[in-house]
Amino acid sequence: MSLSTSIHDIKTLVLSFHGIIAMETVEENRVFSLLQSTALELRMPFFEWSITRGLVRVPGKTSMYGTSEPMNLLSSLQQMDTQAIFLLKDFARFTTDNIVARQLREVSQRFSKNRSTLVLTGEAVHLPPEIEHNVVYYHLELPGREELRKVLDTVLHSLVQANRIEIQLDARGREELVTALSGMTLNQARQTIAFAALKDGKLTEQAIKDVLERKAQAIRESGLLEYFPVEDNRFQLGGFARLKKWLQRAQTGFSREAQALNLPAPRGILLVGVQGCGKSLAAKVIAREWTVPLVKLDAGRLFDKYIGESERNFRKAIALAESMAPVVLWIDEIEKTMAPGGSEADGGLGRRMFGSFLTWLQEKQQEVFVVATANDLSILPPEALRKGRFDEIFFVDLPNAEEREAIVRIHLKLRRQDPQQFDLQRLVEATEGFSGAEIEQVVIAALYRGLHLKKSLDTELLLKEIGETVPLSISRREDLQRLRERARGRFVRVN
Ligand SMILES: Nc1ncnc2c1ncn2[C@@H]1O[C@H](COP(=O)(O)OP(=O)(O)OP(=O)(O)O)[C@@H](O)[C@H]1O
Ligand SMILES: [Mg+2]
Repeated sequence: MSLSTSIHDIKTLVLSFHGIIAMETVEENRVFSLLQSTALELRMPFFEWSITRGLVRVPGKTSMYGTSEPMNLLSSLQQMDTQAIFLLKDFARFTTDNIVARQLREVSQRFSKNRSTLVLTGEAVHLPPEIEHNVVYYHLELPGREELRKVLDTVLHSLVQANRIEIQLDARGREELVTALSGMTLNQARQTIAFAALKDGKLTEQAIKDVLERKAQAIRESGLLEYFPVEDNRFQLGGFARLKKWLQRAQTGFSREAQALNLPAPRGILLVGVQGCGKSLAAKVIAREWTVPLVKLDAGRLFDKYIGESERNFRKAIALAESMAPVVLWIDEIEKTMAPGGSEADGGLGRRMFGSFLTWLQEKQQEVFVVATANDLSILPPEALRKGRFDEIFFVDLPNAEEREAIVRIHLKLRRQDPQQFDLQRLVEATEGFSGAEIEQVVIAALYRGLHLKKSLDTELLLKEIGETVPLSISRREDLQRLRERARGRFVRVN
């Protein structure tokens, strides 16, 4: 969110007679400057209160006599005639006292008539229910580029002034650094920049890598997401021609030119289809093609036995993924991830999570491209398949001849074999009805057999292995038929 949007939002709340605004955040300083700018724009006086200093008019140092004490503060507020904005830090904890709670309620009633506003901040702002009714909770999004750029400029300026560092980063590098900082609070950003610059007395491209590494570390520690760095991504996918073309087009949706036209960035795709035909692999390959990191939502750790904890985990995982943007978020077997044990077995939790997921998918601002995969359409809630949720839903079928050739080549090369030495035509024909996974299995098994027979791999060994394999398309023909019928005409084919 940009700085001006936040100020605009707060301005609107103040002007629309909201007596109390609660902001749950650790970014106290940021709230302070946001409110200061808001007050300035509205030409309203601005006061700040904390238990240690009492009520102080900003800018200023002297506090109003006796206002450190919560009850005294509220009585003073009740008697003040000025219309103003008051920032009360960590005040909510005093409302467990009945008299404080009552007095706060009266102040709030008075304020909502005269356009003064109390802003309560704290990491958590818990209020008694009778007050909560009169409170609007404002969710302060993480700082946007504009704010991060400002922090970067300020920190660098002061370090350069003090002759502590030299900057060896051009304008483009700085912008990349700003991107890398996204997902951090202003404080974290400030510390990270200073640390990166002071470490060896200069700010270089290395700083961008350090920042990304720091975020990756946070992801690993969370245990909710698995992290695949760009450098380690060497996955190869045969076939999927139509999907690959679609992705090339989608990638332009992330460009500056598209941003300049206010076009929404691509949201994500769902891949449904036959087992072992490369759905999971495709997720990894998309990240590789776009040279962005990949994070995988770990379903097992998302669900928690405590009520509310799973949803909190989910929000946390999403926030972590957003902090890595641009990134590919991979949700494998989404029907199981979101609803373990079937849709009703968990008291509706899976359904609720799915709901929040779809809402987030639709509204997200960050460049997080979701690649979800699914095998079983029957347990997916129908709203997930509705148009306008995912950008596209693709059906992954068994590979056709051309694709099988590509897959055979990939897996031969992966095991140090030269595809030229094989009769690919015969292999392609013999593997009709095989999935990519089954083809890979054939190559592996034939190599084992060759090792055992002290023979190098050849077409005959492969054909023998193929002949002994019963592919799922035969052993589970009905399942495949059913899946195809459901998908036909509804979804786009990947090839
Ligand atoms: N199109 C392909 N190109 C190259 N390798 C493939 C392809 N399809 C499948 N494979 C091989 O098969 C393995 C299994 O595929 P993958 O896990 O992506 O299938 P899936 O569709 O996700 O299956 P499941 O429904 O069982 O999760 C891959 O790791 C890869 O080695
Ligand atoms: Mg899979």
